[in-house]
Amino acid sequence: MNKVSSNVFHELDPSIIDFLKSGGLVAIPTETVYGLAAVIDNPLAIKKIFETKKRPFFDPLIVHVSSIEMAKNCSQEWNLITQALAEKFWPGPLTMVLPKSDKIDPLITSGLEGVGLRMPNHPMTLELINKAGVPLAAPSANKFGRTSPSRAEHVCEEFFQEQDQIKILDGGACQIGIESTVLLIKGNQLSILRSGHITQEQITNYLKEKEIVFSFLEKVSSKESPGQMKHHYMPTKPLVLLEDRLNIYQHFPKRLLRSLHSEIIKMPDQWEGVKITKPKHLKNYIELQLSDDPTLAAREFYHQLRVCAEKDCDFIYFTKKNIHYSGEWEALMERLSKAAIVTLPSKPDLQIEFDVATTFRIFWKMVVFLIVISFYVLHSLCNRILSWSISGRRKLYTKTVSLYCRFFTKAMGLIIQPINLPRSDETFLMVGNHLGVLDILTVASVQKTLFITSQEMRNTPGLGLLSEMGGCLFVNRLNRSRIQKEILNIRETLQQGHNVVLFAEGTSTNGEKVLPLKKSLITAAAGVVPILPFVINYTFVNGQPMQSKFRDFVCWYGDQSFIEALLRILSMKSCVVTIEFLPEVKVNNDDDRHHLAVNLHKTIADKFVKITV
Ligand code: TXA
Ligand code: MG
Repeated sequence: MNKVSSNVFHELDPSIIDFLKSGGLVAIPTETVYGLAAVIDNPLAIKKIFETKKRPFFDPLIVHVSSIEMAKNCSQEWNLITQALAEKFWPGPLTMVLPKSDKIDPLITSGLEGVGLRMPNHPMTLELINKAGVPLAAPSANKFGRTSPSRAEHVCEEFFQEQDQIKILDGGACQIGIESTVLLIKGNQLSILRSGHITQEQITNYLKEKEIVFSFLEKVSSKESPGQMKHHYMPTKPLVLLEDRLNIYQHFPKRLLRSLHSEIIKMPDQWEGVKITKPKHLKNYIELQLSDDPTLAAREFYHQLRVCAEKDCDFIYFTKKNIHYSGEWEALMERLSKAAIVTLPSKPDLQIEFDVATTFRIFWKMVVFLIVISFYVLHSLCNRILSWSISGRRKLYTKTVSLYCRFFTKAMGLIIQPINLPRSDETFLMVGNHLGVLDILTVASVQKTLFITSQEMRNTPGLGLLSEMGGCLFVNRLNRSRIQKEILNIRETLQQGHNVVLFAEGTSTNGEKVLPLKKSLITAAAGVVPILPFVINYTFVNGQPMQSKFRDFVCWYGDQSFIEALLRILSMKSCVVTIEFLPEVKVNNDDDRHHLAVNLHKTIADKFVKITV
């Protein structure tokens, strides 16, 4: 990989300092990534950075300092917040954008009023700045839009053509591995312009601890953050990002290739001035694998990306799994999605063969579906008119839903096998696993009940109306401040003697496992009614035992639309489903919610047959 070494220095040679001071470009090691530095008091040298990097002049450079005093000289305003954050996080991966002083050439800030200041945490670079006696302007040492360098050899590679014009200071592999957090500070208003190793939470916690008044603005105008392109960090081989929370692509790699092919056809040749390398073939592909520890993953990210790009492959892919959605992965995932030429969401294919028999089946079932739905809506409207009290109405709703579900499931060829059906004169909060639409038909066919569903469902065209007509209890998953009110509503419904079903996983799944249960709503039963756990297993589809090739017929997951899910259901010849009711659980007000959720999950998961083979 190391193509050139004559311009690489392993120690801070005096000739480097002279070269830098006379307007030369020096690649400097930092704890984040390598920078391509020039002294800030030489406009020609600054211009050379933009030219060598092929970077547009509208994208400003960060100024690197070796002391707080030096930083204060570069800025007009140094307030309490800035002082506190500099003391806490410097030297370190935090760039603060502050009103610039007249020491800063507008070329550096691309004409903006603010200058980005940072004290890097690398002894060699701190010494270099000290000895030069001038701050250094430095962007990451890569060609514009390309993968950042986290080792000296990456810089050699990147500037192989320009090796005579730059010197490289080799300070080893960068310890953090991704660029600094860029924080805009305007008085006491803060905004993150680029996420990084230091998180908004860390900044918030520290300033609160110091009792300093501040607020975070979530939105900033693009003028204030001109360098935030959609695409960046791109390796020389195309990178494809799979948002595969549900392991779809792992089961069906052909889907990956098909989806990718159709995306590539739509792609332009360049984005925001950066050429896109599209795969010419889709035969050989390799996976970018990163540690499950976010700190280690960030450290090795750019290096691994370069290693993969050197391999003989048509494209690289990275699978974004469940763990990658948490806050500590945010900065790295932001880089990954910008580095990728395309992001493929979890979206299974329709998988229906439209032969004559299937098309006919879908057609007549669709007719039955529409007729049943029309009668159901009419019937529900009558219920509204017939009963004015909420409880009376709910009773009618549960009867109506159960009646139509029984009729509809028969017409659809769904054979329901209930096990341990509870007595109809008892009331429960029924908590079970959730795979798809058929679960609702199954439960409602065997038990008169109301369902808890999300506010998003209420807003979904068609489905919103159906759930409203069925008397669903809506909860707002995005607004947790309403939770107590929602719990009270569920509690009141249970007290009125109505069964309520809660799919506590919070979503329907792909049948690989029962997801951990959300604890908050489960507590609605405490001190009111027992919880009745139940487990749903689909055992046969089209006369064959359940297996992963039938997954999409019964599971509604990923980004499938309702109409896709419905078409698959209608295309089935038959389906057998068991619903087993498990021993009831009594809950008191002072029971530990966490334990309750964990125990219920275990009870249900133990009886669930995973759809994996
Ligand atoms: O960790 C880092 O920040 C590395 C090392 C070398 O210090 N530097 C780095 O520089 O990543 P660069 O140029 O690749 O990215 C700097 C980002 C750009 O998105 C730029 O637009 C933004 O910071 N930035 C710099 N100065 C700014 C300013 N005055 N106002 C708003 N954004 C600024
Ligand atoms: Mg950069």
